[in-house]
Amino acid sequence: MKIAVLPGDGIGPEIIEQAVRVLNALGEPFEMETAPVGGAGYAAHGHPLPEATLKLAQQADAILFGAVGDWKYDTLERALRPEQAILGLRKALKLFANLRPAILYPELAGASTLKPEVVSGLDILIVRELTGDIYFGQPRGVRVCPDGPFKGEREGFDTMRYAESEIRRIAHVAFQAAQKRDKRLTSVDKANVLETFQFWKEIVTDVHKEYPDVALDHMYVDNAAMQLVRAPKKFDVMVTGNMFGDILSDAAAMLTGSIGMLPSASLDANNKGLYEPSHGSAPDIAGKGVANPLATILSAAMMLRYSLNRAEQANRIEAAVKQVLAQGLRTADIYEAGTTKVGTREMGDAVVQALH
Ligand code: IPM
Ligand code: MN
Repeated sequence: MKIAVLPGDGIGPEIIEQAVRVLNALGEPFEMETAPVGGAGYAAHGHPLPEATLKLAQQADAILFGAVGDWKYDTLERALRPEQAILGLRKALKLFANLRPAILYPELAGASTLKPEVVSGLDILIVRELTGDIYFGQPRGVRVCPDGPFKGEREGFDTMRYAESEIRRIAHVAFQAAQKRDKRLTSVDKANVLETFQFWKEIVTDVHKEYPDVALDHMYVDNAAMQLVRAPKKFDVMVTGNMFGDILSDAAAMLTGSIGMLPSASLDANNKGLYEPSHGSAPDIAGKGVANPLATILSAAMMLRYSLNRAEQANRIEAAVKQVLAQGLRTADIYEAGTTKVGTREMGDAVVQALH
């Protein structure tokens, strides 16, 4: 089993280091190879997704990804910006299904900005389509506006579009995920305004015929955002497009106290996947040894479960994370009075020690 390890920028290298230590402590013969990506890719090879890095990712059985992005690169043209690395990997590897679980560990109920009774016991899964929508739709660009009241002015434009097969395949992923959970799926759209999402709703409704055991409902994205902070426990699985999923998953992450806790999986049709924390590269705290490595460690657990067929090892890691939380260890992002503040490496140490 070969794992491509792509640490990236900001806190990426620090958190990946801890996840790699945890993987090495499992006693499995994984082959891991590291390559630069994002700003680090640009610095080393002049491109955020260097050819050798893409090749490694294509050859590997799974990819463990840190985070990309740094202020240093904000002035580069779009094609060279660090974000293009993750967008390019998703597209090139056809990683269309993004699973973003938001689970509140009971020990962290007080770390959420919401009242404990609103979030305690929270366990939802956002299934975000990841290779279509306005993120990738063509045409796009900046041009001289050809018509309408702003004719002749410069305008920026992007295209929202979804092919039927794209909607069908993500719907199948979401229904199947719901079948393994509480059998409830909420499809999030903007069918009241957008043609693309009227069509989305129609196709998801059709796919539902194959999953009569799952209860499906539809919700507009603005209402979904409101319900996520009002009564998030009402949701089980949510499925939505790339753009709405990006926004809703950040909101869902914060329900759990810290985005530093949330892993994610991005899968292709054969369960090959890229695994990354839901948070970003946090350049403001990079190199300080204070970042929370748990989202990355939990992403490694998802990798073992979905791509490497080692559910037992995934369970071991998840149990170890629960144990260190129960021991009261906290990185700064989840620290509360009465707990013990630790740094990135100490948190990694504790997880390794807690492995049974
Ligand atoms: C995410 C990130 C990315 C996205 C950025 C870095 C391109 O916000 O994974 O949610 O918008 O998809
Ligand atoms: Mn995002």
